[in-house]
Amino acid sequence: MRGIILSGGSGTRLRPLTKITSKQLLPIYNRPMIYYPLDTLIKAGIKEILIIVAPERAGDYLNLLGSGKEFGVKFTYEIQDKPEGLAQAFIIGENFIDNENVTMILGDNIFEDNFSEEIKNFKSGAKIFAKHVPDPERFGVVSFDDSHKALKIVEKPQEYLSNYAVTGLYVYDSRVIEIVKNMKPSPRGELEITDVNNIYLEKGELEVAMVNGEWLDAGTFDSLLRAQNFAKEKLDGKMIV
Ligand code: TTP
Repeated sequence: MRGIILSGGSGTRLRPLTKITSKQLLPIYNRPMIYYPLDTLIKAGIKEILIIVAPERAGDYLNLLGSGKEFGVKFTYEIQDKPEGLAQAFIIGENFIDNENVTMILGDNIFEDNFSEEIKNFKSGAKIFAKHVPDPERFGVVSFDDSHKALKIVEKPQEYLSNYAVTGLYVYDSRVIEIVKNMKPSPRGELEITDVNNIYLEKGELEVAMVNGEWLDAGTFDSLLRAQNFAKEKLDGKMIV
């Protein structure tokens, strides 16, 4: 299993904090934000990790994280020239993935759970991780059957679909590379992860795993503040990085 941390983007909702640095390097209590998704991957036993960054921040990431030796893993770095969508990670990461399965996590997503069993048990197809939320209309939302096969995914649904939000953790087999290469950008000019998931869903190969613990994306001022408090109260003693 290979791992990708997608840590580019522009972080416009956090300006001016992100005017001179990357969102995922901002502090969450006593660690840079990216340490939290990194911890999730390392706890899942992933040893080869690609970190995708924006060009103007690449040096900062290299200075902070280095080779990976300190964490007992190996880091590879790639640049995403423009934030052209989450799914672009699999084109940028084509050589790195090299016919293996791949877990991608977003650099601003913070999870309480340990997903090592779900990730280690993955054989083929695709697996997404869904969290029960009170306000599904704010998220990408998935419905699924009793055997946890996905039935439908809708971005910010106007009509009720389910209470399960799709979080920023995804596992795919290496077919994901060809799938994304054959996709077209959405009207907002991005290669959409929802389109990737829908292709696996149509094949009947999209599995939905549950997120039972807390899940935060630290992309707004309020969620950044919540993440800081959560990291202090609940995560500090549990981190391995
Ligand atoms: P977003 O929060 O959707 O985008 P952003 O980080 O650019 O922030 P804003 O909306 O405030 O401008 O992105 C989610 C995560 O994915 C975040 O960690 C950044 C990353 N990302 C990329 O690395 N490349 C991309 O092309 C996109 C769209 C996001």
